[in-house]
Amino acid sequence: MGAKVSKVVFPVAGMGSRFLPATKASPKEMMPVVDKPLIQYAVEEAVAAGMTDLIFITGRNKRAIEDHFDKAYEVESELAARGKEDLLKLVQGILPKHVNCIYIRQVEPLGLGHAVLCARPVVGDQPFGVILADDLIDGEPPIMRQMAAIHERLQCSVLGVEEIPPEHSDRYGIIMPKALGEDLDEVLGIVEKPSPEASPSRIAVVGRYILTARIFSHLEKLAPGSGGEIQLTDAIESLLQEERVVAHRFKGTRYDCGSKLGYLAATIAYGRKHPEIGKEFEDMLSRLLR
Ligand code: G1P
Repeated sequence: MGAKVSKVVFPVAGMGSRFLPATKASPKEMMPVVDKPLIQYAVEEAVAAGMTDLIFITGRNKRAIEDHFDKAYEVESELAARGKEDLLKLVQGILPKHVNCIYIRQVEPLGLGHAVLCARPVVGDQPFGVILADDLIDGEPPIMRQMAAIHERLQCSVLGVEEIPPEHSDRYGIIMPKALGEDLDEVLGIVEKPSPEASPSRIAVVGRYILTARIFSHLEKLAPGSGGEIQLTDAIESLLQEERVVAHRFKGTRYDCGSKLGYLAATIAYGRKHPEIGKEFEDMLSRLLR
């Protein structure tokens, strides 16, 4: 105990049906917000939290993700030949040298819980992070770093949460919180996608988790839950019976890039603060909206 969290799981096997036809032949995690794919924002957040073993749970049609984090000889030699040093640096610097990428195939799409269970042989008995790339979170310090600091202090599982409108409860895992401080709750219970009437609170889990390895023994015992899938939420509810789990109300703005509106909101927000085009984009937006 006391060690830093070094492993992080990116479940990226999902079909991305809400973005069809864009996601028919390419992964939703490769959709760009301005000029970076969603998965790269997720990886940068993990690296900023000190995580070094990046475990991707992939599936069919996800080759582009592996290619994105590989050395791209053709692109690099082409850029070098044309003297495009800045772009070359950009492409070569996608991943720092000290991190490892590990790819595991989820053979069947049996749910988020099942995807996380696929990482067990690599994670072993260490606590680990989980990042869902379609929840893009703009925060400083980056949210995973905020959560890793809490994990180091309390040595228990930590969920990233935020308050949602009550009518959206059926889109999220919802916790039953007991306040511990301004931005920290004890998790007394958790349910996956309850109706607003059945919801224990308005505090929803977003796609950020730090979990102890005990979660695996709960995951492996689970029967399919909400939507017929093996749910991570159900395993957390079961984990709670034997271990402490806390929830962190992170500081930052979340964009639900799994939905069209959230994705467009992220594009506008990141476009406006983009160092190269931010100012022009702002002017363009005000012209368009006139
Ligand atoms: C998943 C989880 C849910 C969580 C959500 C956050 O749902 O099952 O508990 O609140 O991610 O984005 P999904 O969005 O995959 O349906």
